[in-house]
Amino acid sequence: MFNTIIGKDISAVKKFLEEGETLGIPTETVYGLAANALNEDAVLKIFSVKNRPHFDPLIVHTHSKDAIKNYVEEIPALAEKLIDAFMPGPVTVLLKKKNIIPDLVTSGLDNVAIRIPNHALTLELLKQLDFPLAAPSANPFGYISPTTSHHVFDQLQGRIPYILDGGSTEVGVESTIVGFEEDEVIVYRLGGLAIEEIERVIGEVKINLNESSNPKSPGMLKSHYAPRKRLVIGESVNQLTGNIGVIAFDEYVDVIELKNQILLSPKGDLNEAAKNLFAAMRKLDASDVEKIIAVKFPEVGLGRAINDRLKRASS
Ligand code: TXA
Ligand code: MG
Repeated sequence: MFNTIIGKDISAVKKFLEEGETLGIPTETVYGLAANALNEDAVLKIFSVKNRPHFDPLIVHTHSKDAIKNYVEEIPALAEKLIDAFMPGPVTVLLKKKNIIPDLVTSGLDNVAIRIPNHALTLELLKQLDFPLAAPSANPFGYISPTTSHHVFDQLQGRIPYILDGGSTEVGVESTIVGFEEDEVIVYRLGGLAIEEIERVIGEVKINLNESSNPKSPGMLKSHYAPRKRLVIGESVNQLTGNIGVIAFDEYVDVIELKNQILLSPKGDLNEAAKNLFAAMRKLDASDVEKIIAVKFPEVGLGRAINDRLKRASS
């Protein structure tokens, strides 16, 4: 057991990581549970703190394109275009790993998922370390990802020594995961970088989301990001009885008490809605509502990632 500290002391964090500990770090998407990606014992701690099955691989975080080259065999031209355009930023690329990345990190897959998080504190930390950080979202497996240091503390208190506090995360949903096959670019997880943005830079992409409970496909168990309470999408609320909480976009729904409703963006901005999504789910999960209803969001920009998370939360 640890006496978990929330703070901004990069040198304390660096020391813990060098000693093979796992701890909380901020990114622009969600908070991560980080450890030295090149140290198997440290990586094992991530799986055990999160209760995460070993078949679910981890994203490796580093600070620059040059650093990525230390961990992957090659960077195909399309991947390089994406990296140059969007990293640091809310996107992860799948590239053929070098042997230096332990099989434990990739669950035995040939590809490693790699990204450069766009968060000043964490980038500074990554530059000071001489290893990359493996980091899944810092929540117990299957639950909602944390977007503040306090979310991490609430769930992992005592199990990690430190949480690096970087405020509320800017983007609020996890990174978009992208793979490359011959001439094709395939999106495996909708996330903080909108498809439209990617297509603007590299042309049309294929979207291949795993909608089953088959864990072989990257990133995506069907049921995930879930509150403990039942969550349903877009049900006709006036047919419902009982104490119901609502997650809506920019307008309240009729019938339900206003105190049980959360608007993710009163001004109708999907980026702001994504930023507020997980905190709203947590808030209603902790309240006295019996069931959560979410409206369906517009299927554009980050609206697609929001709908994806709501769907998995309702599974
Ligand atoms: O925004 C994010 O990506 C956050 C922050 C902390 O960086 N991280 C995150 O990690 O969401 P996690 O572990 O919660 O989700 C990463 C997903 C996993 O579901 C995993 O299946 C997929 O990425 N993944 C990781 N490595 C992979 C690989 N080598 N091939 C295919 N999928 C991979
Ligand atoms: Mg996760």
